[in-house]
Amino acid sequence: MLKETIEGLAIKPAGTYVDVTFGGGGHSRAILNKLHELEIGKLEIGHLYSFDQDSDALANAIDDERWTFVHSNFRYLRNWMDYYGVEHIDGLLADLGVSFHHFDCPERGFSFRFSAPLDMRMNQTAKRTAADIVNSYSEEELARIFWLYGELKNGRGIAKNICRARAQKPIERTEELVKSLSPTLSISEGGEIEVPTNAKKDLARLFQALRIEVNDEMGALREMLVAARDLLKPGGRIAVLTYHSLEDRLVKNFLRSGNLEGTIEKDFYGNNLSPFELIEKGREASPEEVAQNPRARSAKLRIAEKKS
Ligand SMILES: C[S@@+](CC[C@H](N)C(=O)[O-])C[C@H]1O[C@@H](n2cnc3c(N)ncnc32)[C@H](O)[C@@H]1O
Repeated sequence: MLKETIEGLAIKPAGTYVDVTFGGGGHSRAILNKLHELEIGKLEIGHLYSFDQDSDALANAIDDERWTFVHSNFRYLRNWMDYYGVEHIDGLLADLGVSFHHFDCPERGFSFRFSAPLDMRMNQTAKRTAADIVNSYSEEELARIFWLYGELKNGRGIAKNICRARAQKPIERTEELVKSLSPTLSISEGGEIEVPTNAKKDLARLFQALRIEVNDEMGALREMLVAARDLLKPGGRIAVLTYHSLEDRLVKNFLRSGNLEGTIEKDFYGNNLSPFELIEKGREASPEEVAQNPRARSAKLRIAEKKS
């Protein structure tokens, strides 16, 4: 939904924008295409700050004076804007989660398709890996994150299998985790893990749940949303692409109410006091886009404008 997202941001050519999830840089390039370029005699040019906590994203850096890369977690949005002397922004985009790059890099441990160390850190200098969580959380805590972040119905059973396996030997590789859900697996010479087809959906959910916990994705999202609300100018827009129900619920409630609790405050006359006007309320990708990009199947686009 690149086109819909960029159009929905209603970009002002001399505005200041933030893309908090740079990744491959597709959205950032599209934003830059809409900003004024530096020209002799032109005083106002636009600027884009792009965040990514993964240093691999730097391989996609853009050579452009209107662009600044911020190698940081987006939870520090406010601090970085202060650092650059930016008081207000005209728009912000968040395309949440991990990129193709993460799934396609076997050694990062994000995918159940490859034999690899159980890592899953987006920030490769962060201390806690997925293996640390799998080997240190209680059975109860594991079951909770599998249910909360993966909506896994058999989360309790998987947590029990993990605890049984790690009592013999710490779980350090993806295939050892895969076994907790799908005991029958084979590994090809190239390191590809083969599992029965009917286990794949739940394995994707199990890996997603762990990834969200490793990277504290919900905590970072909450902090970023609050900072974005305060930084946006009246008339400024925020566009968020979500990929699972928990983050979508948080974004939906936040954009409806302007607060993390999702409480809609009204004045004496019953008028909604939310700082936002909703522009897109959970738009989904077209079947054509899903056919080209399976990740788009679960995408929801939400856009809001800060009220004047
Ligand atoms: C879905 S990809 C973005 C793809 C991008 N829109 C594009 O056009 O290529 C998400 C990116 O955001 C980064 N990311 C996710 N959570 C982050 C966070 N809390 N802080 C900074 N970067 C984050 C990931 O490392 C990943 O590169």
